[in-house]
Amino acid sequence: MRWTTAKIRQSFLDFFAERGHTIVPSASLIPKGDPTLLFVNAGMVPFKDYFLGVRTPQHLRVVDVQKCLRISGKHNDLEAVGRDTYHHTFFEMLGNWSFGDYYKEEAIRWHWELITKVWGVDPSLLYATVHKDDKEAEDIWIKLKVLPRDRILQFGDKDNFWEMGPTGPCGPNSEISIDRGEGACSPEKNHPGQKCFVNVDGCERFIEIGNLVFIQYNRDESGKLTPLPKKHVDTGTGLERTAAALQSIEAGKVLGNYDIDLFQTIIKKIEIAAKELGDGHAYGKNVESDISYRAIADHARTMTFLIADGVTPGNTDREYVLRRIIRRAARHGRYLGIHRPFLAMAHAGVVEAMGDAYPEIKKAAAKTAEVITQEESRFGETLDRGLELIDTELAHIKKGGGHTLPGEIAFKLYDTYGFPLDLTEDVLRNHSIDVDVAGFNIFMDQQRTRSRIVRAGLQGIARGPSQFENEGLSSRFVGYHSYEGESEVLAAGGRDGDQVAVVVAETPFYPEGGGQIGDRGVIESASGAILEVLDTRKAEGSIVHVGRILRGDAGDFARGARVKLKVDKLRRDAARLNHSATHILHYALRDVLGSSVHQAGSLVDPDKLRFDFAHTGPVKDDALATIEEEINARIRENAEVTVEEMAYDDAIKAGALAFFGDKYGDRVRVVRMGDFSVELCGGTHISRTGDVGMFKLEAESGVAAGVRRIEAVTGQGALETIRKREKILEEIGAQLGARDGAAVDRLEKLLAREKELEKKLRAMEQKLASGASGASSEETVTEVGGIKVVTRKLDGVDPRMMREIADRMRQKHGSAVVALGSDLGDGKVALLVAVTPDLTSKIKAGDIIKNIAPIVGGTGGGRPDLAQAGGRDATKLDEALAKVATLVS
Ligand code: SER
Repeated sequence: MRWTTAKIRQSFLDFFAERGHTIVPSASLIPKGDPTLLFVNAGMVPFKDYFLGVRTPQHLRVVDVQKCLRISGKHNDLEAVGRDTYHHTFFEMLGNWSFGDYYKEEAIRWHWELITKVWGVDPSLLYATVHKDDKEAEDIWIKLKVLPRDRILQFGDKDNFWEMGPTGPCGPNSEISIDRGEGACSPEKNHPGQKCFVNVDGCERFIEIGNLVFIQYNRDESGKLTPLPKKHVDTGTGLERTAAALQSIEAGKVLGNYDIDLFQTIIKKIEIAAKELGDGHAYGKNVESDISYRAIADHARTMTFLIADGVTPGNTDREYVLRRIIRRAARHGRYLGIHRPFLAMAHAGVVEAMGDAYPEIKKAAAKTAEVITQEESRFGETLDRGLELIDTELAHIKKGGGHTLPGEIAFKLYDTYGFPLDLTEDVLRNHSIDVDVAGFNIFMDQQRTRSRIVRAGLQGIARGPSQFENEGLSSRFVGYHSYEGESEVLAAGGRDGDQVAVVVAETPFYPEGGGQIGDRGVIESASGAILEVLDTRKAEGSIVHVGRILRGDAGDFARGARVKLKVDKLRRDAARLNHSATHILHYALRDVLGSSVHQAGSLVDPDKLRFDFAHTGPVKDDALATIEEEINARIRENAEVTVEEMAYDDAIKAGALAFFGDKYGDRVRVVRMGDFSVELCGGTHISRTGDVGMFKLEAESGVAAGVRRIEAVTGQGALETIRKREKILEEIGAQLGARDGAAVDRLEKLLAREKELEKKLRAMEQKLASGASGASSEETVTEVGGIKVVTRKLDGVDPRMMREIADRMRQKHGSAVVALGSDLGDGKVALLVAVTPDLTSKIKAGDIIKNIAPIVGGTGGGRPDLAQAGGRDATKLDEALAKVATLVS
């Protein structure tokens, strides 16, 4: 074979390189910094900024082979792939580029030369088209004298004006088409009523093999065309169709794009898979299987290149495109009788056929095969069941004479069996059945609402009830009197290993609200999986349980699953108790401080309660004591706590306190305690006030202007707090060697003594600093082998005071050996050596003092950290202190 795809690529690059173009490699399929596009869908996309003049190119002439994907947006060929012989999602585009350099004349002349001289196509097979208003291009063709006038054709915007998308650089173009002979098309089938010709939609006989775009405008969002600062050339030649045309000429028969060498390598691999795993139909033997062969070959290229460019299957944007492509290909495998993962085989064919031209797919081959197989296996589990469902539904529809698959079924296929909508549509297309897309979208919207609720729950965004309650997505709290229940999952989200959120129809779990924290506990699925609930929250009228999976996986809690719910009873009871206590506190505050006091917020958890209320200035100690007294009296009164549902207006008439900031529906819960407290409240409560046991105020503080906060503990928590305090008091007593009242006396004395000593020391230091006696010296600091030795001579400082001074010096220096000598008068001297604790293992104060005391005619000793001595020769003090450094070294 002369014109293999590899040769065509090379000849194109060489031809333009010889004409001053720099060869550049293909850019990634993922456009860099272009939010308008999901994928590079044309060779010009990576050069967009050069055309727009916002970036300056390094070279004015460039040639390349660019990977392209037409699977979304303006250029989307997905639906046609497989059904005919020339559409692709992934394809390669040969292009030469002039960035404000040469223009129409060279572009046209060179392409003609390439096609007829290099590739050897007979000019009698070729046609040129130009835009009807592009006189310049038409004249160039005429002047070239290579084509008769009747084969230089004019067309309008639809055929001869090229745009990459709704916005961006664009301009008129000139195309070169080849006539592939009568056998290449069946006009009755492809375009009934129209003869084969250039630009006839669906015609497979006249094929464009060169698109020369003369970029000169930018189209903005409003649709307006603005001339660009410079004019550019953007050419695109589809490699696959060019190869099909050239290889057909060589073979003397019409070949489709999928018959070229490159695709045959891939298709051979799929044939092996079909033979080993499937029904064994080879390519070219059966119309239906051939569609699947082509689709698989095409999709195999797309998945291979997308994964190599860093995309992995997922549920949004590019990730979802990849997932859809893999799933579509897997479904086509079923049509070849293959019921096991096989796409890695097709992928191997792609790497074999294209790995030399695109090293990135070789490099990523192992990972790519893994990603593909994983996605395929995942989908494989539900694919067959989904296809069965479609068969059943089809039989149903056909029997009833219908033509539409209900949206609900399409949604079920999507939601339960992982069928992207386009896959379902594709399957049904063979049966001329449509999908009720509008119906599908309604279900999708509900699904989105569910996931939004779940997400909101995961993020802890709790909002009041809303219209979503009307969509059957509300949950009912049934936990006022029970801690367990059974229900059905309405929505779930999150991932294994991460936090998971579950919404059920009825739950005993109290969702955070009215200051009371959300319940904890466990949810068990019928399949035995366990979710540990760490928090429960309200979101848009639903109750969301947030937690992590302890056994099984997130799939066990999918929508529709039956579950058992169990609340952590001890925790709830503690919270319940504290919640009731806040009502009593609220009452007592109003009783003692006046009815202008009202609640501004609260937090009730199992260990403590916090209550914020509007009040100016701190609450005095005696008022606090009265409040605490009053609360405990009400607890001992053991008043009955009753809960009654009634209309909001009736509740207010009955004197209920409505909490500031809370929202109430028409029916409200009224919580009464004895004859002293009536409040609207959705929280959980005890049945008699005595259940609180004890109420202990912990703190009173200001949190904002005009808002005070009380913190308190109750019941067992209060007892524990008191015990903890008692223990601390006992320890203090033990340290002081006195208890109760005596301890206070003792402490007072100690503090007074400390004050007195402080005073003396300060006076002494002042005396030293002013050098009152004239003989006290400054510190002398020397370093011996990394150890600081600090010495100081004092005048008239007694040994006790020397210790204080030494302590200060030790503190000041951190790590040091301190030596002090004091002249006490009458020839008497005192010496002191102190060593910081980090050094006492090496240097002992006692050893040093023993060595220096004899110098002043004395003796001494002491501990490793402190030693003192007396002596009788004041004239030798300096000598004794100087010896310390020597001893340390
Ligand atoms: N931009 C034109 C195309 O994609 C020529 O490269 O067909």
